[in-house]
Amino acid sequence: MLTDVVDLLLCPQCRARDVESGLGVGDTDRTLWCDRGHSFDVARQGYVSLLTGDGGKFTGDSAEMIAARDAFLGKGHFDSIAAAVSAAVPADTEVVLDVGVGTGHYLAAVLDARLDARGIGVDVSKFAARRAARSHPRLGSVVADIWSGLPVRTESVSAVTCVFAPRNAGELNRILVDDGVLVVVTPTSRHQRELRGPLGLIGVEEDKTRRLGESLSSMFEPVAESALQYPMMLSHNDIEALIGMGPSSRHGDPDARSAALRQLPDITEVTASVTVSTYRKANR
Ligand SMILES: C[S@@+](CC[C@H](N)C(=O)[O-])C[C@H]1O[C@@H](n2cnc3c(N)ncnc32)[C@H](O)[C@@H]1O
Ligand SMILES: [Zn+2]
Repeated sequence: MLTDVVDLLLCPQCRARDVESGLGVGDTDRTLWCDRGHSFDVARQGYVSLLTGDGGKFTGDSAEMIAARDAFLGKGHFDSIAAAVSAAVPADTEVVLDVGVGTGHYLAAVLDARLDARGIGVDVSKFAARRAARSHPRLGSVVADIWSGLPVRTESVSAVTCVFAPRNAGELNRILVDDGVLVVVTPTSRHQRELRGPLGLIGVEEDKTRRLGESLSSMFEPVAESALQYPMMLSHNDIEALIGMGPSSRHGDPDARSAALRQLPDITEVTASVTVSTYRKANR
């Protein structure tokens, strides 16, 4: 719940003026207040939006994309990825922040494996935040834009996870404690390759993992990297959800894609292929 992590949050309005003001819970649990009097409503669904006024450039995943993601992840096809993320986070981690939390699937898996840990799920999409808020009892769900700065206290988080989501190296470095870890999952060029030609899905750049390393290299040093690749047996419904939850849902001709989907066998073998990279702060 949000109240479990509120001591770790910062007022975004004060932060925009370079002041770190903590947040507290009001009398009714329905409002968060900062020391300087700014207030933020807790949504009925249990998340809070800490977007600043200039937010709005990125709106994140739509309601339909989050519903598709929920349906696909609920079938367990990416559970091995969730297990790998959880294994990469140290067992004694107390505070985990998942950036681009989506439905909360991965953060919930990390929290499930650590009975004393609490989690902050951050996403710019209110639809994601809404779904993440009910994904785990020890998860607090916050709407924020990673590119506008995170409304999270400096050096307050012991692990950050980032699964198929954007990351802002400077902000992730700032919020992590000195011996904290950053765990990043990126797709390889083999991820879902069987669907690209027939369904015209957007491909993954060949050197995504190397470019990830470069984008983080000034602030983080790599400590481990593992490859995870396995076949998934997907039905038409699964493939529809997989398309619906990703960027391809916003491109191409949906009718042509549905026709192409009908040409596939009832069950198609599709490769899941990701790299799980673990980093520590370079400036410890
Ligand atoms: C590909 S989805 C991955 C979601 C989740 N990690 C998963 O793998 O199921 C990317 C997520 O990042 C979020 N996102 C995109 N831009 C963002 C930003 N600027 N700040 C925070 N979240 C963002 C999207 O709304 C979406 O939920
Ligand atoms: Zn404030």
